[in-house]
Amino acid sequence: MKLQKFFKLAIFTLALMAFGAACVKEGPPGKDGATGPGGTNGTNGKDANETCKMCHTPAKVDIIAVQFEYSKHATGEAAIAESGNAGCSPCHTQGGFQDVVTRKVPATFTLNTTTGKFVNDYSCDVTKAYGELLCRTCHSSIHETYTSTDMPKLTSTAAVPLTFTGGKVVVNLTQDGGSSNLCIKCHQPRPFTFNNSKNPANTGDVLDYAGLAKAVKTDLFFDGTSAATIAQAKILPGYRTHTHYGTVGAIVSGTCGIEFAGTMAYAQAVHVTKAACSDCHMASMVGGAGGHSFNAKGVFTGCNISGCHTGVDAKSAKYWINPRATIKGLLEQLAAKLQYNGVQFLNKNTDATSNLWYGITSGNYDGYLNVYDPATNPTGLAMNNGTFQNPNPSGSWTAEQKAINLTLPVLKITNAQFGAIINFQLCLREYSLGIHNLDYSKALLTNSLAALN
Ligand code: HEC
Ligand code: HEC
Ligand code: HEC
Ligand code: HEC
Ligand code: HEC
Repeated sequence: MKLQKFFKLAIFTLALMAFGAACVKEGPPGKDGATGPGGTNGTNGKDANETCKMCHTPAKVDIIAVQFEYSKHATGEAAIAESGNAGCSPCHTQGGFQDVVTRKVPATFTLNTTTGKFVNDYSCDVTKAYGELLCRTCHSSIHETYTSTDMPKLTSTAAVPLTFTGGKVVVNLTQDGGSSNLCIKCHQPRPFTFNNSKNPANTGDVLDYAGLAKAVKTDLFFDGTSAATIAQAKILPGYRTHTHYGTVGAIVSGTCGIEFAGTMAYAQAVHVTKAACSDCHMASMVGGAGGHSFNAKGVFTGCNISGCHTGVDAKSAKYWINPRATIKGLLEQLAAKLQYNGVQFLNKNTDATSNLWYGITSGNYDGYLNVYDPATNPTGLAMNNGTFQNPNPSGSWTAEQKAINLTLPVLKITNAQFGAIINFQLCLREYSLGIHNLDYSKALLTNSLAALN
C-alpha cells in the first residue's frame, strides 16, 4: 500500500513535470540580436497543470483520499473474498459493478428451459469481477477528459430495479440528482429463492412476497415434521435464509416489506423524498465519520442543514431517542413472539465482532435463523436457548454432527411467521432503528405483530 502510494506520487510528479516543462520560466535575456520578421500568432495552448490542480489540491482529492481510508468500502474485506464470483461481484468489486452498469444487466429471473430452473440474471462478467471499492467505483469518469466534467459525475444515478424482487419493483430517488440510486444499486437486499431440489416446482424462482402477505396466515410455509413434508417445501429454511446485508436501500425507499394488511398505513417518512444518502452519510467530517468515510455514526451535521432540522443531536427526544426506542421495542416484541414449541426462530449472537448488528437489540439478534449448522453457525447452539433441527444437513458434516441435529426440535413456520421474519430482518439490518424511514419500519413491525395474533 505504502509502495503503491509512492508510485502514484512518483507518476503524478513526473506527469506534472512533463506538463510543466512547457511553461518553465525563462532566465534573464541575453544580448539583443537583430530583430527578425514578425511571425503569425499561434493558437493559445492549454496549461495542463491547471487542469490537474482543479482536482489535485489538498482541499479536494487529497483530503478526500484521507477521509476514504476510514470507509468500509476501502477497509472491508469482502471485495477480495468475493472477487471472481459473478453473483457477488456486482456489489462487492469495482470491476463487477462497472460491468453491470455498462451492460445494463437486468435484475430479472429467467427460466432455463433445459434445466427447468430459474436463473438470476443479475451477475457480472467473471473476467471483470475484481477490484476493491475505490474512487473509480463511484466516479467512473476520473481522468477521462481531465476537465471539470469528469467529477463528480457518478457511475450510475439511474433508477434501480431491485434484485430482491427479480426487478419487479423499481426504486428511483431523484433528490440530489439521483445520487442515492448509486448507493441503492449495491445497498439493496438479495432475493429469497426456491432452493429445495427435492421439490422441482419453480426451483430457483423468487418468492412471491405480495402473495405471502395475503396467504392464509396460519397455513404452514414450512413443515419439518417428516421427509415427505420437507420435500413439499419451496424454501428449506437454514441459518442463512435471509435478506442479505444491504436492507438499507429497501427501507430508505420504503419497499420490499411483507405488507400485511393491518391497522397502520404503510406511509413514508419525509427522508424518502427529501434526504439523499449523501446528506446524512457524507456530511462534514466529525472525527473519523462523515465525508468520504460514508459513516453516519455520531454525525449530526447532516441533519442540521438548511431546510431540514436545527439543533438535532443524540439527546433529541423527538428526533433521535424516542423513534429509535420505538423501533427497538417493536423489534424485541416481534422477536419474542416469533417462536415454535418454545424455541425462537431468530438467532442471537453475543459476539460483537461477528454480529454486525450487535447492541441494536437487547437480545443481540443478527437476523439469521436459529437453525443448527456446525459449518456456518458454529456458535449458534451455545448462544441460543434451544436451536432447530436443520432440514437439509450437509454431506460434509461429521456423523456426530448429523446425530446432534437429529436430537433437536423440528421446525414449523406459518406464512405469517415467515413474512414477519423477513420484516424483522429488513428493519434490524437497516441499522438506524427507524431513522432511515420511521413510518415504513413502524408499519411493517406493527402489522407483523398483529398478523401473528
Ligand atoms: C476531474 C478531477 C481530476 C483531474 C482534472 C485530474 N485528476 Fe488525477 N485523480 C483524480 C482522482 C479522483 C484520483 C484518484 C485519487 C486516489 O486514488 O487517491 C486521481 C489520481 C491520480 C493519480 C494516481 C494514479 C491513479 O490513477 O489513481 C495520478 C498520477 C494523477 N491523478 C495525475 C493527474 C494529472 C497529472 C492530472 C492533470 C493532467 C490529473 N491527475 C487531473 C482526479 C483528477
Ligand atoms: C459498488 C457497490 C457499492 C456502492 C455503489 C456503494 N456501496 Fe456502500 N458498501 C458496499 C459494500 C459491499 C460494503 C461493505 C464492504 C465490506 O464489508 O467489505 C459497503 C459499506 C458501506 C458502509 C459501511 C457499513 C457498515 O457496516 O459499517 C456505508 C455506511 C456505506 N457503504 C454507505 C454507502 C453510501 C452512502 C453509498 C452511496 C454514496 C454507497 N455506500 C455506495 C457497496 C457499495
Ligand atoms: C445486490 C448487492 C449485493 C450482492 C449481489 C451481494 N452482496 Fe454482499 N453485501 C452487499 C452490501 C451492500 C453489504 C454491506 C452492507 C452493510 O454493511 O450495510 C454486503 C455485505 C456482505 C458481507 C458482510 C461483510 C462484513 O462487513 O462483514 C458478506 C460476507 C457478503 N456481503 C458476502 C456476499 C456474498 C458471498 C455474495 C454472493 C453470494 C454477496 N455478498 C452478494 C451487497 C451485495
Ligand atoms: C461509494 C461511492 C463513492 C466513492 C467510493 C468515492 N466517492 Fe467521491 N463522491 C461520491 C458522491 C455521491 C459525491 C457527491 C456528494 C454529494 O452529493 O454531496 C462525491 C463527491 C466527490 C467529489 C466532489 C466533492 C466536492 O466538494 O465537489 C470529489 C472531488 C470526490 N468525490 C473524490 C473522490 C475520491 C478522490 C475518492 C476516492 C478516494 C472518492 N471520491 C470515492 C461518491 C463516492
Ligand atoms: C436522514 C438521514 C439518513 C439518510 C437519508 C440515510 N441514512 Fe443511513 N444512516 C443514518 C443514521 C442516523 C444511521 C445510524 C448511525 C448510528 O448507528 O449511529 C445510518 C446507518 C446506516 C448504515 C450502517 C453504517 C453506519 O454508518 O452507521 C448504512 C450502511 C447506511 N446507513 C446506508 C445508507 C444508504 C445506502 C442510504 C441511502 C440509500 C442511507 N443510509 C440514507 C442516517 C441516514
